[in-house]
Amino acid sequence: MKITVIGTGYVGLVQAVGLAELGHEVVGMDHDVAKVRRLQAGDPVIYEPGLAERLREQQASGRLRFTTEMAVAVRHAPVLFICVGTPPRPDGSADLSQLEAVVRQVARAMDSYRLVVEKSTVPVRTSSWVHRTLRLYAPRGVEFDVASNPEFLREGRAIEDFFNPDRIVLGVTSERAAALLNEVYASFKCPKIVTDPNTAEIIKHASNSFLALKISYINLIADLCERTQADVHIVAKAMGLDPRIGPQFLEAGLGYGGACLPKDIQAFIAIGEEHGLDFSLLREADEINRGRVDVVLQKLRRALWNLEGKQVAILGLAFKANTDDVRGSQGLAVARALLEQGARVRLYDPHAGGRARGIVPPSESVYHADGVWDALQDADAAVIATPWDEIRALDLVRMARTMTTPIVVDGRNLLDPQAARAAGIEYHPVGRPPVHLL
Ligand SMILES: NC(=O)c1ccc[n+]([C@@H]2O[C@H](COP(=O)([O-])OP(=O)(O)OC[C@H]3O[C@@H](n4cnc5c(N)ncnc54)[C@H](O)[C@@H]3O)[C@@H](O)[C@H]2O)c1
Repeated sequence: MKITVIGTGYVGLVQAVGLAELGHEVVGMDHDVAKVRRLQAGDPVIYEPGLAERLREQQASGRLRFTTEMAVAVRHAPVLFICVGTPPRPDGSADLSQLEAVVRQVARAMDSYRLVVEKSTVPVRTSSWVHRTLRLYAPRGVEFDVASNPEFLREGRAIEDFFNPDRIVLGVTSERAAALLNEVYASFKCPKIVTDPNTAEIIKHASNSFLALKISYINLIADLCERTQADVHIVAKAMGLDPRIGPQFLEAGLGYGGACLPKDIQAFIAIGEEHGLDFSLLREADEINRGRVDVVLQKLRRALWNLEGKQVAILGLAFKANTDDVRGSQGLAVARALLEQGARVRLYDPHAGGRARGIVPPSESVYHADGVWDALQDADAAVIATPWDEIRALDLVRMARTMTTPIVVDGRNLLDPQAARAAGIEYHPVGRPPVHLL
């Protein structure tokens, strides 16, 4: 089947490569000329495990190509997936200007029936706006459908998620649209929820907001555990054994980041307000999350007394492990907060260093380290901000020897407290009893 994917970022590129691997003939379109040139040359631009090899394989097979030309992209296929960004506006609501621009261009290039599929995360009722825009700008007589097919992949495991989704949500208004999408996803055996577009749009925001709630909830419990010498790790483990709760997203620490959960919960709050509803439950979750950087800073202050002039290594700048995405990075948020306090930071990430450099450039107070040992050299303290395997596997004895003072604030509860004690590290996890050496 011929398919077009518009917007080849973290979601669109995985979608394009995955669909090609399923045997579809895919064109990926993006307006970013430099990005498309790199993609055409087999460079995925982003770091996502397994993506580079698969991209090149699919290009070599002839099933996947890239263009900057919207007309080429629209004429290629009856099904167009739109995967452009939907970033937050200053008031938290979703900025749909990229989507609108694409829909207008698509409309002008349509010469026969097209199914326009929203894959981007959008507020409920966006499909009606997309429909109206297509009607206004498409040539008269050209038929089309609009569908919502929200994406649930997780960066860092995006390929695995593409091929093994928990569910596929199809929000459609016609049999024709449902048939086309069923053909696209014919080889998937997971449950397919076929519904209307409004319901599909709400499913995505409701899911992400629930995940954010779960993380903030366990962080609230972590704070209580700290004040009562209890251990959130054990609390979460026991809670998670209840199948009604489940073990995932019960990891206390620096909270959620990235380009999705923080913006999606804010967008959902704005949607609730627009419809006259009080979504303060979600507002609280968002507030708790914003406070997590301060929790880490307080731990540093308690350990180092004054932060001014201190050197702090930040281990992990990607918002989660196995990605190079630093949008909404808690590691960089900690770095900024430390710089405001007059501290100096030594930044390290196995894959996101290059992107982080663009956001927090090197200066007298900011050092971008080449490796983890370089970051830890002469550090007065280290903050673990991303749960990379490389950091989990660190030689703690060498860590203690490399640092000026072996103080570790573990924003991801990654290290084993007993191993830290044995290595001579003063260890401050989140929601668990600290290890003091003095
Ligand atoms: N990143 C994730 O883990 C994830 C997961 C699920 C859903 N989503 C949602 O998917 C959408 C895309 O997210 P992303 O992380 O892939 O964003 P991204 O910023 O990585 O990619 C968006 C792409 O769209 C392109 N684009 C923007 N305007 C364009 C235009 N006019 N014409 C052609 N291309 C254009 C950009 O150049 C970019 O390559 C968002 O709505 C996001 O909320 C993201």
